[in-house]
Amino acid sequence: MRKPIYALGGAGLLLSVSMLAIPAQELTGELPDPPAFAAQSEPVFVSVGDILEYKALPEYHEPAWVTSKYVDAGTLPPVAERLPKEPLVYKIGNMPDGVGVYGDTMRHVIGGRPEGWNYIGGQSQGWGGIDIGLSECLTRTGPLFTIKADELEPMPNLAKSWEWSEDGKTLTMKLIEGAKWSDGDAFDAEDVMFYWEDNILDTNVSPLNGGTPETFGVGTTLEALDPYTIKWTFQEAFPTQYLYAMAYGTFCPGPSHILKPQHPKYNADNTYEEYKNAFPPEYMNIPVMGAWVPVEYRPDDIIVMRRNPYYWKVDENGNQLPYLNEMHYRLSTWADRDVQAVAGSGDFSNLEQAESYVEALRRSAEDSAPARLQFGARTIGYALRMNLSANGWGEPDERAQAIRELNRNLDFRKAISIAVDRQRLGESLVRGPFTAIYPGGLYAGTTYYDKASTVYYPFNLEAANALLDGLNLVDTDGNGIRNFPEGTAGGADVEITLLANTDYGTDTNLAEGVIAQLEPLGIRVIANFQSGTARDDMAQAGQFDWHVERQGAEMVSVVQGTAGLAPTGPRTHPFHRAGTDGTVDLLPFEQELVDTVNAFIATSDNAERAELMKQYQHIFTENVYSVGLTQYPGALIVNKRFANIPAGAPIFMFNWAEDNIIRERVFVPEDKQGDFELHPETLPGAPGGAGPV
Ligand code: GLA
Repeated sequence: MRKPIYALGGAGLLLSVSMLAIPAQELTGELPDPPAFAAQSEPVFVSVGDILEYKALPEYHEPAWVTSKYVDAGTLPPVAERLPKEPLVYKIGNMPDGVGVYGDTMRHVIGGRPEGWNYIGGQSQGWGGIDIGLSECLTRTGPLFTIKADELEPMPNLAKSWEWSEDGKTLTMKLIEGAKWSDGDAFDAEDVMFYWEDNILDTNVSPLNGGTPETFGVGTTLEALDPYTIKWTFQEAFPTQYLYAMAYGTFCPGPSHILKPQHPKYNADNTYEEYKNAFPPEYMNIPVMGAWVPVEYRPDDIIVMRRNPYYWKVDENGNQLPYLNEMHYRLSTWADRDVQAVAGSGDFSNLEQAESYVEALRRSAEDSAPARLQFGARTIGYALRMNLSANGWGEPDERAQAIRELNRNLDFRKAISIAVDRQRLGESLVRGPFTAIYPGGLYAGTTYYDKASTVYYPFNLEAANALLDGLNLVDTDGNGIRNFPEGTAGGADVEITLLANTDYGTDTNLAEGVIAQLEPLGIRVIANFQSGTARDDMAQAGQFDWHVERQGAEMVSVVQGTAGLAPTGPRTHPFHRAGTDGTVDLLPFEQELVDTVNAFIATSDNAERAELMKQYQHIFTENVYSVGLTQYPGALIVNKRFANIPAGAPIFMFNWAEDNIIRERVFVPEDKQGDFELHPETLPGAPGGAGPV
């Protein structure tokens, strides 16, 4: 075991003692309220039962060309036979513009690139809603922004209903019966169990969005009772929280009939790496449960998806969904997504890179603007996260290990935090009422946020320098950079690498801002800027000292991604995972965070939950668990020709807007339909085969 470096060296010790004399409260200060910023439209709050139900309808319909070209030709069974016994039915009363018509395309633009189609095996499809459109999950949470607060519970999806045992320790779920994958193969418990046993429980596999056994509670088991019934057994009573983990992206099963034959457990010739990569981007027509199937891929150009003829959702008139025949994903940049959506050559964007807000707002305010732009609440936030593992996660070398030890020191984290001028950092992205000082922890304005429980250490460069002096980090060689004490990392300059994602201007701008602001501290922060995919891999593998990143839904909703609020399991947390011995070397305050989060998961008492999150916020911010940077609102941009876009849809809350707006219900009125379909009147072909048929 290495000694913490700040415990070494006599002179350093003296200095630290004198520094510890600075009372903690001198570093804290009044947190200014975020500038007022009103969301531009409010959701209509309803019950889940107002949105959907599962039932058989007297008749079903599909686009006329599907009947004439496929069903009549005998290559596709009639629509009623393709649908489950009781399809998921969207109620007309909840459709903002009512029953839709078939046709047209939603033209997405994305900045990511597909690694392949093995989503549950850990491959990214390039984000921006591709995977959200392909994958259907046991439950669904994106649209919950419109559910009445006192009725908040995940919506049914592939799991059409569930029942708790009397003692609350078992949960029996009924799967939708008779639903089929897009190639016609039956969806059933075998798909669910393959996901659970061979992708979640098999730790050689890392599902893309980080599902691990602990995501569903330590000791939780799952079994299939029959093809359409599964049974969960939990250690705690009524952990309703896990219903959120059964939504996107941690419980969306893949097509076992296609994936299983490639999995090493069933295929002795394959390694886990081969399993993960068995479905490269060129592989077409991967069977999905989602509304659209990938049918064309041109590298650095486009992914085209066509309607899934077996999709298992309908409207109340029996029209099989989706209404939109095609989906495009232009492979470009995230900044281009904004530009194209505003200009009308793309149809959709989550405006989330604050640098472009003023220009996007100006253009969208014009009457002739092709797209609607609507701001929501401040749910986009960035933090500087320090790698807190000192027991080997990511295999640090001597220098990196010394940084890990520093990261684990509260005075060090405080010093870094108060050396950051958050006001200036936010304004460097965009001027105006958008960005707000973000001290870390839960975002201001969200349900569980409590200002009184938030400890704020304001900008104070002088005190930051004093804290580092106190840690015996002194510039011994006069080059302007502080050195490690002798005996630690060879007394070298303190150099810290900062990981950030080059796919987003905001990520690198904020990272560069941090680097510049830390210069007067005598710390050399070195940019380690990587493309999204490489960044994801390095972050997952723990190969970073520091990481500036956009945070996940747990900081907004708390109930989504809850297990990631603290290192509740060996692989659940973004910046502190298990080291080489399989354990997480929790700091004492982290143990408190873990206990608080576990207590939150174990109770459904709202008052108790609010209290626990106050504690969480206090422990988090007092200990500078991560260095909050800035928080700001996002705007949803959708081309004006689309109907059924729900009011007040946030770009991010329980999930991204691509889920929130329920795309399978979105349509384009006939008189507004464009001529964008690249493969009109075709359906997906056989798995692996090229092109639509
Ligand atoms: C990326 C984008 C987000 C959103 C998500 C969907 O992260 O930046 O705006 O589209 O993909 O997964």
